[in-house]
Amino acid sequence: MDTFLAVVSKREVREYAGRPIPADAEQRILEAGRISGSSQNRQPWRFLVVESPSLRARLADAVYVPANVRGGALVVVIAVGGRGPTAFDAGRAAQNMMLTAWNEQIGSCPNGMPDPDAVARLLDLEDGERPVVVLTFGYPARTRDPQRHAALEWIERANRKPFDEVVQQL
Ligand SMILES: Cc1cc2nc3c(=O)[nH]c(=O)nc-3n(C[C@H](O)[C@H](O)[C@H](O)COP(=O)(O)O)c2cc1C
Repeated sequence: MDTFLAVVSKREVREYAGRPIPADAEQRILEAGRISGSSQNRQPWRFLVVESPSLRARLADAVYVPANVRGGALVVVIAVGGRGPTAFDAGRAAQNMMLTAWNEQIGSCPNGMPDPDAVARLLDLEDGERPVVVLTFGYPARTRDPQRHAALEWIERANRKPFDEVVQQL
């Protein structure tokens, strides 16, 4: 898929179809995160793939919208440690993973958590390591075909602030 079309047609998936993600697609999603750039190439992250059903259930209870984690075919926690702009680094990795997924019709959604310390304990993170986001991936319950609209149409349909409010010439 054209990268711009992938960016403008991607929406967060509220509900998943429940089908599993092929192993090779999962590998590409995780590689997209691993290969991401980061400040001073520190790669301050670990990507924790939560497979255990009991751990998944407890993680679901620790995010704002538990159903999104319960329904995901793949659940990845991005945890970071150390100094520097680690949240920005994690965001770069997260978006690369989500766009790589979308390139193969796999939807995704970032999930925040009200109590990151509780999630750090739940996942037994190392000292100084903290969870940034819980990413869910899966085939959307409602199929969305990126080719259905031109890029500019996807932009017009998106619930976003107007261009001139966001982009300003100085
Ligand atoms: C179920 C659900 C939970 C979400 N939780 C969070 C969150 O906790 N933190 C966050 O930054 N974004 C979260 N998001 C993502 C933003 O709401 C989303 O990026 C924004 O509303 C634009 O959505 P759209 O691209 O589908 O229009 C969540 C989205 C969904 C659907």
